Amino acid sequence: MIDAGSSVARPAREVIPSSMPAGTTTPSRRRTARRPASTTKPGGIEPTFVTGDGRSCVYVGDCRGVLAALPDVQRGVFDLIFADPPFNWSRAYDKWDDAMPEREYLDFTFDWLDLCVRGLKPGGALWVNIPDDWAGEIVCYLKGRLERKPPTVLTMQNWCVWHYRFGQNTKARFINSKVHALYFVKPGAAHTWNAEKVLEMSDRASIYDDPRTFSKRDGMPAGKRVPMDVWYGKFWGRVQGNNKERRHGHDNQLPEAYLARVLLACSNEGGLVLDPFLGSGTTGVIAHALGRKFVGVEFSAENAKRAFERIKAGPIRPPEQPAASSAIFPHRRKGRTAPRADRG
Ligand SMILES: C[S@@+](CC[C@H](N)C(=O)[O-])C[C@H]1O[C@@H](n2cnc3c(N)ncnc32)[C@H](O)[C@@H]1O
Repeated sequence: MIDAGSSVARPAREVIPSSMPAGTTTPSRRRTARRPASTTKPGGIEPTFVTGDGRSCVYVGDCRGVLAALPDVQRGVFDLIFADPPFNWSRAYDKWDDAMPEREYLDFTFDWLDLCVRGLKPGGALWVNIPDDWAGEIVCYLKGRLERKPPTVLTMQNWCVWHYRFGQNTKARFINSKVHALYFVKPGAAHTWNAEKVLEMSDRASIYDDPRTFSKRDGMPAGKRVPMDVWYGKFWGRVQGNNKERRHGHDNQLPEAYLARVLLACSNEGGLVLDPFLGSGTTGVIAHALGRKFVGVEFSAENAKRAFERIKAGPIRPPEQPAASSAIFPHRRKGRTAPRADRG
C-alpha cells in the first residue's frame, strides 16, 4: 500500500472536509476551494476535494445527482469518461446498497449512462468496465437497440476483455476470469486515438524473432504492434493481497496498467477526464499523473477522501512505461536469449 504524501506526491494546497452531501455548499467552502478542472458556475455544485494545482477534483454523492448538476456535463465537454460501476453483486461497499432488483439496477445504469453520454464532447470516449451479467444490456442500450434510447447513439470501437487468473473458485460452472471493457465514442467529430502511446512487442518479435516484424510497412516501430483486445499479463492481475498497488478496503480496485492504457490511447495531456464511480481512485491517480484534468465522483465520503489522498500521492509505477510483451509462449529461436526488440 502506498502512503499518502509519498515521494511522487503533488503538493495539495487544499483539502476540504468531506462531510457534506453532494450538491450542497457552504460559504466557508466557497471561500477556500480553488476552482477545479471542471468549471463550477455560481449556483452549480462545489467539489469536496481539489488538488492544489486545481487540476483534479472529487465530488461526494450519488453520481446521478452530481453529474446532473455539473455545468461541464450540461455543456458536453468531457474528452473521456471511464465508468466502473457497482456490479450489483451484493458487495459490502462502504455505503452503497449493492443488491437492487434487476429492473431497478438497469434503470440506475441507463440513468448514469445517459448523463455520461450527455457529458461527452463529440468525439469523446466512453469506457465501461462491466461483468457478463450486464454487458449485453449496456451494449444494446448505447447502440440504441432497446426501447429506451440514450440521448445520442454511440459508436462501438472495441469490446475489450480484461482477463485475470484469480477468479472466484467454483465447481458448478466455469470460473469467471474476465470483465468487459466496453469502448464507445460519441459521433460528431474525430476521436482521439494515440496508438503510438500503447504499443507492445508483437508475438512475431517476442516468440519467433521473425525478421518480417522488424521491417514492417504499417507505420509501426520495428517489432511493435497495437495491443489486442484481450488484456492480461504482468501488472494486469486483480489487485489483491500484498500487491504494491493495493488500497485497504477496496476489493474491486482496478490495476494501474488498465487505466494507463485507456487514458494514454484515448485522451491527451490537458484533456478533461471523468470517473463517476471513483472507488479507490485509480482513474484519478493515472489521469492526474498524466497531466489530464480530472473529475471524480464517489458515493462514500470515506472512499472519496482516501481516493483523493491517493491522487495526490501518485501511481506506484510510471504510467508511460512501455508495455511488456503479452505473448503466452517463450522465445523459441535457438541460440538467442532474448528477442531483438528486447535487446534494443
Ligand atoms: C467498482 S468500485 C470502483 C473501483 C475503481 N474503479 C477502482 O479502481 O478503485 C465502485 C465504486 O462506486 C461507488 N458508488 C456506488 N454507487 C455510486 C453512485 N451512485 N454514485 C457514485 N459512486 C457510487 C462505490 O462506493 C464504489 O466505491
